[in-house]
Amino acid sequence: WIAGAVGLAIAYLLGSVPSGYLAGRLLQGIDIREHGSKSTGATNVLRTVGKWPALAVLVGDVLKGVAAIVFARWFYPWCYAISSIAPPTVPDLQTLVPWTVGLAGLAVLLGHGRSIWLNFTGGKSAATGLGVLLALSWPVGLGAAAAFAVTLALFRIVSLSSMLATLTAVAFVCGLEQPLPYRLLVIAGSLYVILRHRANIQRLLAGTEPRLGSGSPGSE
Ligand code: G3P
Repeated sequence: WIAGAVGLAIAYLLGSVPSGYLAGRLLQGIDIREHGSKSTGATNVLRTVGKWPALAVLVGDVLKGVAAIVFARWFYPWCYAISSIAPPTVPDLQTLVPWTVGLAGLAVLLGHGRSIWLNFTGGKSAATGLGVLLALSWPVGLGAAAAFAVTLALFRIVSLSSMLATLTAVAFVCGLEQPLPYRLLVIAGSLYVILRHRANIQRLLAGTEPRLGSGSPGSE
């Protein structure tokens, strides 16, 4: 369990890296959490700081998700390999690793949304979630990315696109009969991402959610 906790802590800390906050602070001397949607995600960096910083934050946030899964897939088998516990007392590695990898996926999402460096504030974890999906199962990740792209092309609303992408990921992970831990991770992660979009949902229902490139939402 020590290995489990250490791995989850590292995944959480990876997610906590405040890329969007740093973009605002370093490039414009502002706290992005006081501007636009208050989120530290790439969409708010786009409307508050600029196009290229937003692209960099988007790539960085996706990579955080990829890195957490790649790390967990290496770390947990490595821990078991160096463990002195006799094999009969350790649950079957093949069974255990997907669960710990799945939990690391949730930990990196939590780190992005509730960063330890930002008083447990942060972004909405959509880009980091995409990174998790791509590393976990690239067909699921591509399905979610495609849903995002189509919705964005149709409506030009990033939050709506992010939420439909997460729902598509759930459909793909269940439809493609991925392992149970991965299915549970994607369902829990999607719920988390959608919950982080509560203010966006209210604005969508009120018809006040801004479209891409057309201004800033009111305060959340
Ligand atoms: O990934 C975040 C996006 O879906 C919405 O961001 O800043 O418009 O709330 P924002």
